[in-house]
Amino acid sequence: MKPNPALLAVLLSLNLAAAYADDPHAQHHVPLHDGRAVLELSPDERAMILDEMRMFLDGVEKMTGALGRQDMPAVAETARNLGQKMVHEVPPALRAKLPPEFRQLGFSVHRDFDQIALDAESMKDVSYSLNQLSATLQKCVACHASYQIRPPVFNAKR
Ligand code: HEC
Repeated sequence: MKPNPALLAVLLSLNLAAAYADDPHAQHHVPLHDGRAVLELSPDERAMILDEMRMFLDGVEKMTGALGRQDMPAVAETARNLGQKMVHEVPPALRAKLPPEFRQLGFSVHRDFDQIALDAESMKDVSYSLNQLSATLQKCVACHASYQIRPPVFNAKR
């Protein structure tokens, strides 16, 4: 059976919720240390990923604006820009440093946005699109709760 990325994300977040429940500091939302898995990336690689991330946030901002105006063609266009076409060639050295789960989660987010674009065009249903966007944002949340990017030098000093 092919692993279902959405299910993976849900399981991941449940897992994390359970981990936080055990943490006495969790209720104050002030973690004493950053327990997220570290991706050791060079400054250039980090910049590349963070650039993509800011495009995500920019797109989500535009999409929510378009949804508020019930401008479904704009919703579709913005979503499509965050879809598979946004995935450009990942340099092999960077690809090798990214865990498979990380890449799968990333791809599934791009696929979601393509689906949101198609459905926005065909259904023109703001609530439906919002529900889809919400489900996709959970994947953003799940990945951010799991990973951090640090340069190798920084790790050596810890
Ligand atoms: C597969 C994992 C993954 C997914 C999915 C993901 N991100 Fe990220 N994102 C990261 C990582 C890792 C960082 C760096 C976090 C750190 O080092 O503390 C990051 C950082 C960011 C940043 C900060 C950028 C900066 O310049 O510092 C923004 C904004 C962001 N993500 C938005 C999003 C949004 C919006 C989504 C969903 C549409 C999303 N991300 C999905 C992994 C992911």
